[in-house]
Amino acid sequence: MKKPFYITTPIYYASGNLHIGHCCTSIFADSIARFKRLEGYDVMFLTGADEHGQKVEEKAKELGMTPQEFVDSLDIKFKELWNLLHISYDRYIRTTDKNHVEVVKKIYQKLLDQGDLYKSEYEGWYCVPCESFFTESQLVDDKCPDCGREVKLMKEESYFFRLSKYQKRLEQYYEEHPDFIRLEATKHEMLNSFIKPGLQDLCVSRTSFKWGVPLPFDDKHVSYVWIDALANYITALGYMQEDDSLFKKYWPADLHLMAKEIVRFHVIIWPILLMALDLPIPKRFHAHGWVTGKNGAKMSKSMGNGVNPLSICDRYGVDALRYYILRNGPIMKDSEYSAEGLINAINNDLCNSLGNLLSRTTAMIVQNFNGVLPKCENSVQNDIDKYFVESIISMPSKVKEKMEDIELNNAIQEIWNVINNANKYIEETTPWSYKEDKQRLSAIFSNLYFALYSVATLLKAFLPDTAKRIAQDLGIDEDELKLENINDEYKNTLQNLTVTKNAPLFPRLKVEEELKFLNN
Ligand code: MSP
Repeated sequence: MKKPFYITTPIYYASGNLHIGHCCTSIFADSIARFKRLEGYDVMFLTGADEHGQKVEEKAKELGMTPQEFVDSLDIKFKELWNLLHISYDRYIRTTDKNHVEVVKKIYQKLLDQGDLYKSEYEGWYCVPCESFFTESQLVDDKCPDCGREVKLMKEESYFFRLSKYQKRLEQYYEEHPDFIRLEATKHEMLNSFIKPGLQDLCVSRTSFKWGVPLPFDDKHVSYVWIDALANYITALGYMQEDDSLFKKYWPADLHLMAKEIVRFHVIIWPILLMALDLPIPKRFHAHGWVTGKNGAKMSKSMGNGVNPLSICDRYGVDALRYYILRNGPIMKDSEYSAEGLINAINNDLCNSLGNLLSRTTAMIVQNFNGVLPKCENSVQNDIDKYFVESIISMPSKVKEKMEDIELNNAIQEIWNVINNANKYIEETTPWSYKEDKQRLSAIFSNLYFALYSVATLLKAFLPDTAKRIAQDLGIDEDELKLENINDEYKNTLQNLTVTKNAPLFPRLKVEEELKFLNN
């Protein structure tokens, strides 16, 4: 029986096109999901779209569409983007899905029935782009503390969710589960700024717009978008539905991944909602930093500084974008997107280090052995061989360790360490000086082949297209790239494989030309 592993991305607002900031979370989550599959887990990877709310209603109106037409048009675009980027989700949820809507209604009914909801009047400040309420004291210079934009004073009849009732339980949960929020700093901020000062009951219904889930007991009201949205993580698995086998198998989630601005909703409202539903709390929440524009400001749709992933993929290939995001992308900290950074990552790491290793190795095997990897029973003949092979065999456990800590950039660094070692190995072993010594040559090529095999195997998690292309050049099927094969015995079985030298994996870019293209 494979062990289940349930990972989620946030569901993205269907309010406009997605930019490389959004791609960042999906690429991170996809790499973790792929790595877990490589490790043999039974993975459930969920993503989707958050399609209700005032912002969506307003956007649709601006475009002369119904909200449903508007979100349907974006649904096509979102899925096209994820497919292009090879985001290997197992399920995709839209909050307008009929099943989801029905369950959100049931959740509200249950909360009402057990006394967790009450009707009152809401007065407070609302930020439409963030779909968030704030008290006067939370505002910064009278603006939204999250995005700095104008907020509206709202006064309306609303239903409230008794967060305050669960305050002690939440504090206790934090204490008893030190690993539940990945970052100590985030945990302290949540506890000290939001929880300990006293949780205020949350306004969870709206009457000033219509585009939301109508409350089953009062259809003047629609659901507050965050309750609707957070519930996706369980409705997508069949919670409160006829077939809840997936829910039984995968809940609680192993990892909720998101950027830092929405961590508050996830580690306060969500656990309390789950407590109210008498459900277990997810095991881990991980918030990453932002991709920023030039001046350090968050890349965002409404700021208009979003970089379009389609044009980058079109020009440089999907894996160039995936690599750049994974390598320079923010894990703990914000990181600035720059055209120079992208070009350097492609030229230095993908073209020079990895691309050259593959083309040199395949070219030499073609030249010396007519492209057929020779038999070699003892490829470790001296210390250089020994050190090199050891570094290959220890790579998976090093990558795994970094992946456990969600340090994806460092995990990739471990793969590049082996790639760099392999290039150094070629320089040190000088295969060109052994033209006549076929035995020595077969040892060197055997080790290099094994390095490429192992690198391609791990790259399946991060750069799936590239892994496939390397496998093709190595004369094997990508399904034969297996983590458990990265060992000495398997290395010794590698022989008689037909290697081909194909076009470079990543053509070298002319920096000036590309800067002009990207900065235009
Ligand atoms: N719909 C809510 C999430 C509900 S989840 C129950 C939402 N959507 S969003 O489209 O505005 O953003 C979702 C996520 O996109 C962020 O949390 C983050 O993971 C990702 N990002 C959006 N812009 C980003 C950057 N500039 N940088 C990094 N990640 C970014 O919030």
